[in-house]
Amino acid sequence: MRIDVVSIFPEYLAALDLSLIGKARRQGLLELSVADLREYTTDRHRTVDDTPYGGGAGMVMKPEPWAQALEDVLARGPAAEGQRPVLVVPSPAGEVFTQAVARELAGREHLVFACGRYEGIDERVVDWARERFEVRPTSLGDYVLNGGEVAVLAMVEAIGRLVPGVIGNPESLVEESHADGLLEYPVYTKPAVWRDRPVPEVLLSGHHGRVARWRRDLQLRRTAARRPDLVAALDPAALDRADRAV
Ligand code: ADE
Repeated sequence: MRIDVVSIFPEYLAALDLSLIGKARRQGLLELSVADLREYTTDRHRTVDDTPYGGGAGMVMKPEPWAQALEDVLARGPAAEGQRPVLVVPSPAGEVFTQAVARELAGREHLVFACGRYEGIDERVVDWARERFEVRPTSLGDYVLNGGEVAVLAMVEAIGRLVPGVIGNPESLVEESHADGLLEYPVYTKPAVWRDRPVPEVLLSGHHGRVARWRRDLQLRRTAARRPDLVAALDPAALDRADRAV
């Protein structure tokens, strides 16, 4: 998979050199490059923003540096074979990023992330880009960040770890939160008693069936308590079937 990020703060993305994503890059599983939007300006001050038409607070990102940067990304990207690259535009006004979106994007060949700052990017860039990319305005959640960079760190990590080969043991992707629409069960390690608190007895029983039943119950209880919206979104018949299989 190829990932391009365009930002006025390329240093923000340095964390993508670390840990599993950094290792995947070194192994050639992920090809990731970060471009500085200011490289695509033409004035002496390398201006990327201007005042908003119609008035209002803050500044808006000018369209032309974005078009230049994205054209360059397209020119250097893999030759499109039917699939257009996906342009993810992080924004609190986007669709919410979920594990399902991460899974979908992990199957794509070329992802481009356009990090906006200030009040956002001139909307005409999005219209223009729709002719060249599959454009996905995407929000991490219902709160406002100062720019797209932190959102990109989160999204690239969530997507990258789903790319085959990036996580050493793919089994660990099966039982984690959101894999089946529920939250993860609680986990414990040694010692069996810590500061007078014992590990739940069933986990020491060696009885796989009982452990699986206990974990499933905890997943359901925890999800109902913390995220009733997730339980409501599940198909009751599928939930029943999954429960009978435990
Ligand atoms: N940029 C600013 N706020 C954001 C959010 N909540 N999600 C994604 N990008 C953002």
